[in-house]
Amino acid sequence: MKKRVITYGTFDMFHVGHLNILKRAKAFGDYLIVGVTSEEYDRSRGKLNVAQDLQTRINSIKKLSFVDEVIVEHHKGQKIEDIKKYNINTFVIGDDWVGKFDYLKKYCEVIYLPRTEGISSSTLRKGLKTTRIGIIGTGRIANRFAQECTYVNGMEINSVFSRNIDNIKAFLEKHNVLYGFNNLNDFLDSDIEAVYVASPHEHHFEQSKQALNAGKHVLCEKPGTLKDYEMKEILSLAKSKNLIYLEAIKTAYFPAFRKLLNELESGIIGDIIDVKATFTKLIEDENLREWNSPYGGAVNEMASYPLLLAIKVLGKAQSINFYDQKKNGVDYSNNILCLHDENKVSFSTVGIGAKSEGCAVISGTKGYVYIPAPWWLTKRFYVRFEDPNKEYDFSYDFEGDGLRYEIAEFASLIQRGQKESKMLSYDDMININEVISLYNNNPDVGKNDQTII
Ligand code: CTP
Repeated sequence: MKKRVITYGTFDMFHVGHLNILKRAKAFGDYLIVGVTSEEYDRSRGKLNVAQDLQTRINSIKKLSFVDEVIVEHHKGQKIEDIKKYNINTFVIGDDWVGKFDYLKKYCEVIYLPRTEGISSSTLRKGLKTTRIGIIGTGRIANRFAQECTYVNGMEINSVFSRNIDNIKAFLEKHNVLYGFNNLNDFLDSDIEAVYVASPHEHHFEQSKQALNAGKHVLCEKPGTLKDYEMKEILSLAKSKNLIYLEAIKTAYFPAFRKLLNELESGIIGDIIDVKATFTKLIEDENLREWNSPYGGAVNEMASYPLLLAIKVLGKAQSINFYDQKKNGVDYSNNILCLHDENKVSFSTVGIGAKSEGCAVISGTKGYVYIPAPWWLTKRFYVRFEDPNKEYDFSYDFEGDGLRYEIAEFASLIQRGQKESKMLSYDDMININEVISLYNNNPDVGKNDQTII
């Protein structure tokens, strides 16, 4: 009988250390299977800076004539499943992992091989070009962004723009940022390749446009646009300039959220019927932006998150109703009922002046998914069925407030020369912002008229 060997790795920027271990692994048997880690799995275990996409890494391994099969490693615990599924005799890995895989000895032989000295993907990645980014804004989210950026290799904050010189000074003192500008044109003329737009909502569209016209990639806080067909306009500008435009809806980039979408796609709860998601944050001080800026209110502040879930799972909203509560013209609570294709429904509850449980539920013909509050910081979700004894529990913890995942995706797109993210596609951004725009364009939709777009 043939002796079957398996080994795993990221195999980013394929190098001689990889080649050596694979050759030596093959020598332990007749059939070699190589498991290449998926992007989601790598990010969930803290490897945020992989330079090449999965397909490129797989292709490098497939080129090797002595490798018999390449598989993808998607999740923790998969190694045991693979060893059983592929009748593996020997598991091989580099000695940087000594002891870590002893638990597999129950299933097969485990061999740790000495690493090749003096080379690693990490050192090769250090030789790649770093992207210099500038931040527009010095508020709460800009400060969090600056902190989280330090966890992502390949992205360096170079400058900051604000109209207020004191705010610039405070920002430069707090973070490792070189230059401050209070003139937007000077900021955009400076030595940066990318811009993070973290200004008040009403400036997002114009400032993103200016940045793209100045030849900079843009990561823009949500909502990226507020009115009409602005999102389509901004994306076609980005395309025409061959630049990236990405909206910073952080949930879209979380490993657990990606896993959730994969599980739903695999049919784990059957046909999906509806999506319900709630995000409320009581803002008691009515002098704050959420209440008194021209584009404050519950929809503009919070709706990007539940709409992301609804649109990722059910696609574009075909017909939309807003059921709002207003004070001084500001919606402090809003229930957005969307009808999607095939009569499927999403129900998004948002509020800045009313409180509710911040969970999400996705219902299907075979079961449902429950994401506990705060579901938009997705770390854990449960798949449940009619039989209360049957439940799957998925958990992917992360450190900090999670902005590092959207930064990592933006940095990867730039690094790889890709323009559109699979995690938040052009269509996703258009469809989410179309709902938000509808509310801003038509004050009457708040009177519960049904509107078809
Ligand atoms: N490997 C090796 N010698 C090296 C580098 C890696 O033998 N110089 C082995 C690892 O021990 C592992 C496999 O190659 O068994 C895949 O490792 P991977 O983590 O993809 O490569 P690294 O270069 O170690 O990547 P990183 O720097 O990102 O950790």
